[in-house]
Amino acid sequence: MTDQDTLPAASPFSSIDAVVQALQGAGYYADRRLATAVFLALKLQRPLLLEGEPGVGKTELAKALSTALSRELLRLQCYDGLEQREALYEWNYAAQLLHMRAAEAQGISTDVESEVYQPRYLIRRPLLQALQAPAPGAVLLIDEVDRADEPFEAFLLEYLGEYQVSIPELGTIRALVPPVTILTSNRTRELNDAVKRRCLYHWLDYPERERELAIVRAQVPQASATLSEQIANFVGRLRSTPFASAFQRGPGIAESVEWAKALVALDTIELDPEIVVDTAGILFKQRDDVAALTHAMATDLLKPAEEAAP
Ligand SMILES: Nc1ncnc2c1ncn2[C@@H]1O[C@H](COP(=O)(O)OP(=O)(O)O)[C@@H](O)[C@H]1O
Ligand SMILES: [Mg+2]
Repeated sequence: MTDQDTLPAASPFSSIDAVVQALQGAGYYADRRLATAVFLALKLQRPLLLEGEPGVGKTELAKALSTALSRELLRLQCYDGLEQREALYEWNYAAQLLHMRAAEAQGISTDVESEVYQPRYLIRRPLLQALQAPAPGAVLLIDEVDRADEPFEAFLLEYLGEYQVSIPELGTIRALVPPVTILTSNRTRELNDAVKRRCLYHWLDYPERERELAIVRAQVPQASATLSEQIANFVGRLRSTPFASAFQRGPGIAESVEWAKALVALDTIELDPEIVVDTAGILFKQRDDVAALTHAMATDLLKPAEEAAP
């Protein structure tokens, strides 16, 4: 028997369909390509890098995966200026100082330095928590990594490649169980090639109509069947040519769901151009985009949706 046999199975999923099912059980609707990426990331124990527009379900996938796997979710939200000590660990200076004072007061002349750099004075941040999580291990979400700076990306390489980190005072800390690691990027900038090479890559697109409809139905069951279908059609068309070019940022899935909730709150049974224009502030978060959705465009967008239904 090798070490490999005693380790927990890399993936509890025997097939891609099983991934689809498990995610759906956690309220997440994945298409086959995404489920394949997840299946492989688990099987090969590789980090998964998800890129896509805001609101396409990148963050939500990590949450759903943690539910589906019954693994704790650890989340590292990236931002400009994020430092290692917020991602990995920092020393609890106050406690270290107290320890040193106490040692002084008692006149103990031991090797104080080695005493204060013990694991118990370590404040563990998400990366270290993920490495040290007991079985079955954690899901680590490194969210919006494009917001962090390049030195931070470089710092991630050791973790992403080997599931280990080096702490000068303590040495190398290796994962007990490789954490399921999801990185997301809104692609505000290109990520370093070295990061990409260590990850499986998946571009997460807006959902196709059927999947968006399923999400709206699941999250807003009070919406009428007609309304849900109209929302899925309308939003889908808004994001495609020629309409998409009129807007700076198309609505994400979150906006579709919000819109459905708002329309239900307004007792809407069916969409019409007036209600679309009146509620445009839910679909778009920018003033120019709200203004760009005119009555005429709404009329245009609603027409084919109605005719298209067989
Ligand atoms: N595939 C999906 N299945 C179910 N809900 C989804 C899905 N994708 C997105 N959502 C919904 O859309 C919202 C926004 O998704 P989110 O993961 O925050 O987007 P991103 O991280 O890509 O910006 C989520 O809170 C969730 O309610
Ligand atoms: Mg997100």
